[in-house]
Amino acid sequence: MSTGSAAQVAVHVRAPGKLNLVLRVGPAGQDGDHQLATVFQAVSLHEDVLATPAEEISVSTVGRCAHLVADDESNLAHRAAMLLAEASGTRAGVHLQITKRVPVDGGMAGGSADAAAALLACDLLWQTGLAREELGHLAAELGADVPFALTGGTAVGLGRGDVLTPALARGSYHWVLGISDQGLSTPEVFAEWDRLNPDPPGAPHIDDAVMAALISGDPHRLAEVLGNDLAAAAGNLAPPVEQMEQVLADSPALATLVAGSGPTVAALAPDHPTAVEIAETLRAADVADEVEVVAGPIPGARLLESVREDEA
Ligand code: C5P
Repeated sequence: MSTGSAAQVAVHVRAPGKLNLVLRVGPAGQDGDHQLATVFQAVSLHEDVLATPAEEISVSTVGRCAHLVADDESNLAHRAAMLLAEASGTRAGVHLQITKRVPVDGGMAGGSADAAAALLACDLLWQTGLAREELGHLAAELGADVPFALTGGTAVGLGRGDVLTPALARGSYHWVLGISDQGLSTPEVFAEWDRLNPDPPGAPHIDDAVMAALISGDPHRLAEVLGNDLAAAAGNLAPPVEQMEQVLADSPALATLVAGSGPTVAALAPDHPTAVEIAETLRAADVADEVEVVAGPIPGARLLESVREDEA
């Protein structure tokens, strides 16, 4: 193991997808973004980013539905690397190889996880010396869900969802995810919410009962407070949402939840064996393109491995 200051030649970072245990939507501001009050939980379906030195900045994607992802400058991970290069004044390039597991346009912030992982990987590769807090500011510039992908765990998000406060939460929760390959565009889901709510409510907030349920660590209590204001809009735009919810209603799931802007549906299980049983039921019903069993909370973007020049 080397302790020298040799340059990094490869940095491998992992960042989690998320569920919104509660998602309350308020009116849109002048920029078109809606006020949100949400509780994020990072779950064990993650994105891996392998960063290696290169002349320019480039991205390639493999894994789940990788063919749906543009590997050009519009890719959020590409934009993250560009933003960090600009902020730190580096002239270095990077190649980012993304391995996707979080569904594309599935409401679980997979693109935001890529961006958070890219920020951390490039920061380590380029040795920019920026504080984690500064990475957080850059993350917020990239998108509302990127700061949470950096921090992970369980957190309350206000503003556009990007003003984070860590939540006191006990225990580990077991979820079954019903994944549909027909993704949903987040702006279209918010537009449908606008159509369904011509008279938007006031500023959204998180009930005390939600925070009490999180502290209890009891999935039965958490099941009672789960809720997503975007669920109806997502259901209108993606028929598999209702089909999955119907199947799960006849399973031992404690509650079901639409993930973010959908169409992924999450079922909360009382324990891991029951989660496996619920997953079998959902697979057998043939209403989801894929079914995963995951747990949360887990940490945010983190270094898995880094290789230095004198080790390569
Ligand atoms: O921040 P992000 O890039 O994920 O947002 C994608 C789009 O979703 C925004 O451009 C906006 O149309 C919608 N959105 C919103 N209110 C939010 C977050 C996102 O209307 N709080």
